[in-house]
Parts: sequence; C-alpha cells; structure tokens
Amino acid sequence: MATLVGGITTSHVPAIGRAIARNLQADPYFKPFFDGFPPVHDWLAAVKPDVAVVLYNDHGLNFFLDKMPTFAVGAAPEYRNADEGWGIPVLPPFPGEQALSWHLIESLIGEDFDLTTCQEMLVDHAFTLPMALLWPGSDAWPVKVVPVCINTVQFPLPSARRCWQLGQAIGRAIQSWDADKRVVVVGTGGLSHQLDGERAGFINKDFDLKFMDSLVNDPTWATKYSITDLVELTGTQGVELLMWLAARGALGGAVRKVHTNYHIPISNTAAGLMVLENAV
Ligand code: DHB
Ligand code: FE
Repeated sequence: MATLVGGITTSHVPAIGRAIARNLQADPYFKPFFDGFPPVHDWLAAVKPDVAVVLYNDHGLNFFLDKMPTFAVGAAPEYRNADEGWGIPVLPPFPGEQALSWHLIESLIGEDFDLTTCQEMLVDHAFTLPMALLWPGSDAWPVKVVPVCINTVQFPLPSARRCWQLGQAIGRAIQSWDADKRVVVVGTGGLSHQLDGERAGFINKDFDLKFMDSLVNDPTWATKYSITDLVELTGTQGVELLMWLAARGALGGAVRKVHTNYHIPISNTAAGLMVLENAV
C-alpha cells in the first residue's frame, strides 16, 4: 500500500513567482518568506515522496464563472501552466500520476463526494508556485502530481466542515492505494488576506496563528465557522485556508509539527507555511 509521508501547507501569491523569476530570494522584502523553505527541502529530501496530491484553488485560469465545480480532481497525463498575464516564465509541465487520480476519484465518489473529473486541466499560480517553492530550480519535477481543486472563488463555497471531510476521504484513498509509492499532501492558499473592496489589505494575525496552532492541537476547530464567518475573520480571499484544512484532514489522527513559518505581508497576504507528519 502507498505511504502518506505527511503534509505541507503554504500560501500562494503571484508576487512570489516574479521574485523567483528575478532571483529576489535574498531581497529584504522576500527573504523572511523564502527563509521558511530550506527546512522543508531538508524534510522532503528525508521523506522522499514520489507523488504530491496538491489541494489548491483555481483563480479563473482553468475554471471561470461560467463553469465552477465545487471539487475537481485532475486525471490528466500532464498539467500545464500559463503565466496568466504576469509575464513570468512558464514552468515545465507537471507529470500526472493517473493511477492515483483514478483511485482517488473512484474512492471519493464511492464515499458520496460529487466531483468533477478533469482529463485536461491547466494549473495556475496556486498550484505552480508552491511546486516551485518546494522543488526549486526543477527542470524535471521529482514528483508526479494529482491536482485537487476546491472552489473558493465563486459563491456558494463548500463549508469548512465539508472541506475537512473531503480531506479525510482523500487521506483514506491515499492509504488504500495499492502501490509502493510515497505520497505527500500539499494544501495551498491563505492565510488571511483580502484583495479588493473596502477591507482590501485586511489581515488577522491572531486568527491565523490560532488556526495554525489548531491544525496540530484541535484540527476540527475551524470547522465550527461558516464561510461568512471565515470571510469576516480572514478576508474574502482568506477563505483559501480551506485547502489547509482539507490537507490536514488527509493526515487523519494526531500530527507532529515539523516546521512552521509566518510572515506579514507578501503583497496583500499573511504568508504561512507548515510541515506536519503523523505523530506515530
Ligand atoms: C494575492 C494573494 C492570492 O492568494 C492570490 O491568489 C493572488 C494575489 C496577493 O496577496 O497579492
Ligand atoms: Fe489565491
């Protein structure tokens, strides 16, 4: 059976892509953010995943307002990026792990999740930047991928409770995959931020730190909040923390915190990072 090696949760912000393209990792503005990643690289070198299941939210590249699945799972041989008009280099295609895609799809639909299955799928900055941060400078990605997209763009959004349940079901599916492979779960988005409207620039450090702590000590804590509560507490785009919650759900029982980083701001975003491993 496959081994679930642990989970990584991180923010995604287009400005990071520009910083990578211009080699600004040591720039004083970006350094506190990029300095969070070497311990993650060490951890990845130790746990050696073959596959990454990446929970992210598309922002209008692959899905637009005309067609917006609540949950979508990629089942493509590869996933291409487009620069979304930012003018930064397009990353090499990401090879798909189709056997796990189909196992996940069968298993999740078997558990009554109504998914959209995507045999073609473009991936945006929410997928590509975390990959570039986790495996920097890759000409050929060292892991195959399964993208799982959660709608956090067009209301109504799935509840925190439902995203937690989805994550738990993803964890069960990974652990029942009959393959001698090592799998890491990655959740991207958040933490608190609001890009537009009267509260543009809104950040809630107290809530973010409480949320990060809850993923270790009380993982269903955030499921008590409605989506409107979460928007109020974390900003309209802060709801992207749903991907962190789903990734944590995939790990199941007790976890150990391997590494965390938190830095305000990158662009308009409170940037968080965590690495979690199962405690046993
Ligand atoms: C920013 C944050 C995001 O999550 C995103 O998808 C786009 C932009 C920002 O802070 O600029
Ligand atoms: Fe985003």
